[in-house]
Amino acid sequence: MIISIASDHAGYELRRAIASYLKEKGHQVSEHGAESSSEPYSYVQAGRAVAKDVTGGTAERGIAICGTGIGISIVCNKKQGIRCALCVNETMSRLARQHNDANVLAMGARIVGVTLAQSITDTFLGETFDGGRHRDRVDDIE
Ligand code: RB5
Repeated sequence: MIISIASDHAGYELRRAIASYLKEKGHQVSEHGAESSSEPYSYVQAGRAVAKDVTGGTAERGIAICGTGIGISIVCNKKQGIRCALCVNETMSRLARQHNDANVLAMGARIVGVTLAQSITDTFLGETFDGGRHRDRVDDIE
């Protein structure tokens, strides 16, 4: 899968860890955002980058990381066609795919550790949209 991943400075370390993890699993990863954890980088720019990749079709899924995941998820959801889900556990990332057809996963580097973030990501990428009764609701968002 082609995955776009972006973060601000607060999400830098987790972004690098998740990007490496995804590459090891054979995914193609496009990274955007902060180049270190010490140099401030706006979650707004990072969120816009991942949202653009997904709506533009250069990535099938996006992963957006900031300190809490809140700011960057708000930014992503401003973009038409993005359904960004801020998830803190695997139940949320599973249901975000099954019920909401979420195309961007947001996580907070100050909220979840690397191991949990990997598991949330695996679930997000592995699950499919249930369709059915959820289809009309998702279509109604746009
Ligand atoms: C940066 O300090 C922090 O505000 C940002 O990463 C994020 O948590 C905002 O929602």
